[in-house]
Amino acid sequence: MTTDTITIRQPDDWHLHLRDGQLTKLVLSYSAEKFGRALIMPNLTPPVETPNQAIAYKKRILSHLPTGSRFQPLMTLFLTEKTRPEDVREGILNQAITAVKLYPSGATTNSLEGVKDCHSIDKVLEVLCEFGIPLCVHGEVSDPQVDIFDREAVFIDKVLIPIRQRFPQLKIVIEHITTQQAVEYIQSEGPCTAATITVHHLFINRNHMFKGGIRPHYYCLPVAKREEHQLSLLKAIQSLNPKFFLGTDSAPHTKETKESACGCAGMFTAPIALEAITQIFDNLQILDQLENFTSVNGSQFYGLPLNEGKVTLSKSKTPVKFLNSVVLDHLEVMIFNPEVPINWKVESIQNE
Ligand code: NCD
Ligand code: ZN
Repeated sequence: MTTDTITIRQPDDWHLHLRDGQLTKLVLSYSAEKFGRALIMPNLTPPVETPNQAIAYKKRILSHLPTGSRFQPLMTLFLTEKTRPEDVREGILNQAITAVKLYPSGATTNSLEGVKDCHSIDKVLEVLCEFGIPLCVHGEVSDPQVDIFDREAVFIDKVLIPIRQRFPQLKIVIEHITTQQAVEYIQSEGPCTAATITVHHLFINRNHMFKGGIRPHYYCLPVAKREEHQLSLLKAIQSLNPKFFLGTDSAPHTKETKESACGCAGMFTAPIALEAITQIFDNLQILDQLENFTSVNGSQFYGLPLNEGKVTLSKSKTPVKFLNSVVLDHLEVMIFNPEVPINWKVESIQNE
């Protein structure tokens, strides 16, 4: 039987880059019109390190929202070796932050001020345990000696497992997982360890970066791996394990900074993320599980209420044509193109 419309509870995006200033103005509406909430990454320059900075950043984001929008940015702090446990406590008590983000120093875009020695953040992790606030991790080592395709698996062994041993109760989200090792690690762990999965890592593997030439728009971190790892992610979704949920990692960079001799890592997926993930669930014939992945598992892990709104998507007979890019003044950001048909589009949103 073919289903041609589906209505789900309004989704959340548990990993989103909204940048700042004009770029926020350009990209925000693509998330805000479809998602109820999004966990906003703090890797600005300079990073969002204190609750006051998170509050100020949230205000800047809200100032770009169209009137009447109910989209809620959920803020995170960028952990450094100097992060004060009392600041994290204050941020939690004031409800200024929803999670704290660990970037190994140098692992990705704007992360140089991240953590080199994970023992240095133990006091902060104690505070997170006390309040049940998740530690979100960019799960890659940044050691240049480690092959870029192995950095996630090495991170799990060398950094994550020791943190887990020191803090058995800590809620941990491994962000944007890309490997079979990460999938297996999540499956082997208890209910305090979860993972976000992006849309793009379900559509591409490392071959896409080199199809017919070098394709900078398929470059992101963690870098896409071999096809067998892509298949592991698809299997993780099919396993219906509630510890996997959607975090798009939509990460806009301008066209010129991507199409460069040293192009930035990150894909802007927000405008097609919901439609594309629906297509994946349709392809896997598990459309009835879409809502859990997009709208239930994440809020339950974070201990937050489910969204009340609903989104209806419909399937057309011919592939939907999406924009190639979005533009504001001199800024142009290319939209992720999976180069396979997407037949789903958002029909209506009920969110009063
Ligand atoms: C992200 C960015 O551009 O901020 N880039 C990416 O490739 N995903 C950072 C990140 O999440 O690693
Ligand atoms: Zn990211």
